[in-house]
Amino acid sequence: MNTNAHPVAVVGAGVIGLSTAVCIAESIPSCAVTVLAEHFTPDTTSDVAAGILLPHPFPETPLHKQRCWFKDTFDHLLSICNSTDAAEAGVFLLSGWQVFQETPSTKDPYWSTVVLGFHMMTDAELQRFPKYKFGQSFTTIKCECSKYLLWLEKRLKNAGGQLHTEKITGFEQLTSSYDIIVNCSGLGSRDLADDQSLYPVRGQILRVHAPWLKHFIRDGNGHTYIFPGIHSVTLGGTRQKHNWEMSVDEADSSGIFERCCELEPSLKKSQVCSKLVGLRPTRNSLRLEREFFVHGNRQVPIIHNYGHGGGGISIHWGTALEATQLVKESINWRNPTSKL
Ligand SMILES: Cc1cc2nc3c(=O)[nH]c(=O)nc-3n(C[C@H](O)[C@H](O)[C@H](O)COP(=O)(O)OP(=O)(O)OC[C@H]3O[C@@H](n4cnc5c(N)ncnc54)[C@H](O)[C@@H]3O)c2cc1C
Ligand SMILES: *[C@@H]1O[C@H](CO)[C@@H](O)[C@H](O)[C@H]1NC(C)=O
Ligand SMILES: *[C@@H]1O[C@H](CO)[C@@H](O)[C@H](O)[C@H]1NC(C)=O
Repeated sequence: MNTNAHPVAVVGAGVIGLSTAVCIAESIPSCAVTVLAEHFTPDTTSDVAAGILLPHPFPETPLHKQRCWFKDTFDHLLSICNSTDAAEAGVFLLSGWQVFQETPSTKDPYWSTVVLGFHMMTDAELQRFPKYKFGQSFTTIKCECSKYLLWLEKRLKNAGGQLHTEKITGFEQLTSSYDIIVNCSGLGSRDLADDQSLYPVRGQILRVHAPWLKHFIRDGNGHTYIFPGIHSVTLGGTRQKHNWEMSVDEADSSGIFERCCELEPSLKKSQVCSKLVGLRPTRNSLRLEREFFVHGNRQVPIIHNYGHGGGGISIHWGTALEATQLVKESINWRNPTSKL
């Protein structure tokens, strides 16, 4: 290891922490990156995600920024889809439909030029969904997080990064050993100190065996979706604000199954393999910024990257790139003469 390396701590090993750590380790060789997390895959919220690339709204973040994060992520994963790593990374193209019961604005959504082949559903396509007025047809990407997270861990180790299991109870723990801290602790940021603007939105899903399904279907107005994956089809879901309950609710399970069967009758013959719950780390705008933590005579830059809500997979690479830029600027701040 480079003895002049800048030790960087990344807190969190969900899709946000690992992608940010990989991005820093691969693009700033002078950084020695350590990921510290209480839980690793398969025990993070990211492991529960369906992993479909479809933006989720952040009401207080400008749309052009959200589009840019989404596009950076889509293009990055598209190049993985197009490489020999696709199977190991668990990333693949998926086509399907998002259907709506109410007529929305006639304008195409801001992400319509990022996904592939976006068009309004034709009458022939809509015939399968008599209860729905209109729909969008497109090809997007699905990222199977349990595979993707393992692959990111491997990529991080190849770039010289390290992984440690540890619960962080305060910044002070890290300031003596690290020059820069990156906070990707998801919902943990609420506990760690006082970010009361962060709250859970509980999501429950079912994974079923239905290998004949090859298209996704999402109800654009409700919480119902069907996302085929490599080994199972994910059926969702629920969006329960401020609900911290991590155990499976059987009323939720049967509600999800019924709603999905209504959209796709063949699911009645599918077998449920597992039921999972995750808490989406939600905020009105995700937090991506730098501040300084003062402890004794040390002042340590902290880059926050958390609060990705229901759309963390969809924008993770875009926000990792932006957080990495803030890390670069922090090194220049510490050492104005250093060349990266
Ligand atoms: C049912 C469901 C379906 C979803 N579907 C999609 C989808 O299709 N597409 C999409 O884009 N998004 C989806 N999401 C959202 C997505 O899962 C999240 O946005 C994303 O996983 C957030 O990632 P994260 O890395 O911030 O959080 P997490 O995955 O929760 O990771 C947080 C990490 O921080 C660590 N940590 C926390 N506190 C501490 C501490 N004090 N000390 C040490 N470590 C700590 C944890 O152990 C963990 O490693 C879905 C979510 C749910 C629940
Ligand atoms: C896909 O791979 C081919 C061959 O390597 C390359 O020419 C092309 O630019 C790639 N396309 C994308 C979108 O990554
Ligand atoms: C993460 O951010 C929150 C909100 O600012 C803060 O309270 C918490 O201490 C941070 N945690 C770490 C380990 O960086």
